[in-house]
Amino acid sequence: MAQLNLVLLGPPGAGKGTQARRLCEDFNLPYIATGDMLRERVKEGTDLGLQARSYMDRGDLVPDDLIIKMIIERLQEPDTEIGFILDGFPRTEVQAEALDRELTELGRSLTAAILFEVPEEDVMRRLSGRRVCVKNGHNYHVEFNKPKHEDRCDLDGSRLIQRDDDREEVVKHRLEEYRSKTEPLIEYYEEQGILRRIDAARSSDQVRDQIRATLAMALFEEQV
Ligand code: AP5
Repeated sequence: MAQLNLVLLGPPGAGKGTQARRLCEDFNLPYIATGDMLRERVKEGTDLGLQARSYMDRGDLVPDDLIIKMIIERLQEPDTEIGFILDGFPRTEVQAEALDRELTELGRSLTAAILFEVPEEDVMRRLSGRRVCVKNGHNYHVEFNKPKHEDRCDLDGSRLIQRDDDREEVVKHRLEEYRSKTEPLIEYYEEQGILRRIDAARSSDQVRDQIRATLAMALFEEQV
């Protein structure tokens, strides 16, 4: 199969992480999520984690130079040679240009930028009900994706908590950051001819089906 080099775009809470994990199972690709990588570094107390923390707590984007370095290093690891799913990167035009430069150097290019389209009311509802496990960040929802046992992760048994940045006032700010800094990437990828729009307001299974069909089409078009 041709290489699948994917970027997932969309507002906070659009369901990118949920679908990325399912896509990884379907296509056996490495999953690279900047949010997860940063939270891991915060937990470990690394220099990057210490620098990133205050931005994340406020719902601000972390400065480009810190993020770009982290992702470029990750893309140079051998497991990405078969492709990758990038979730949460790029989020600014500077990041998108850095990614294009790196891929060109590696003799590769993006297969698709998948845009998750969902109304803001849905985002607020999804994020206010999201719960994540403390051990591995597995994802649940109090209404749409309940764990088998209340407040415990089905997969590793650890406690479920609400992310600090899922508080309403922080979510509002994350959405402002999305609109001003990340939304311009829609046009950026549209101009490159690789933007694929997904109706992410539908059920998780329906979203998964639409992504699969869209990717099949993208791969077909790449080959003809
Ligand atoms: P990050 O962790 O990337 O957060 P985000 O993009 O805001 O995305 P989320 O994880 O909130 O949402 P998601 O779309 O993955 O939704 P999910 O699948 O969980 O970033 C956090 C912070 O890190 C940023 O604010 C920033 O500070 C920093 N950062 C990260 N990357 C950066 C970068 N490149 N540059 C600078 N700073 C960066 O779903 C949400 C909920 O909805 C879940 O509970 C789920 O169960 C439920 N759900 C999912 N799909 C459906 C559905 N179809 N129907 C109903 N419920 C659903």
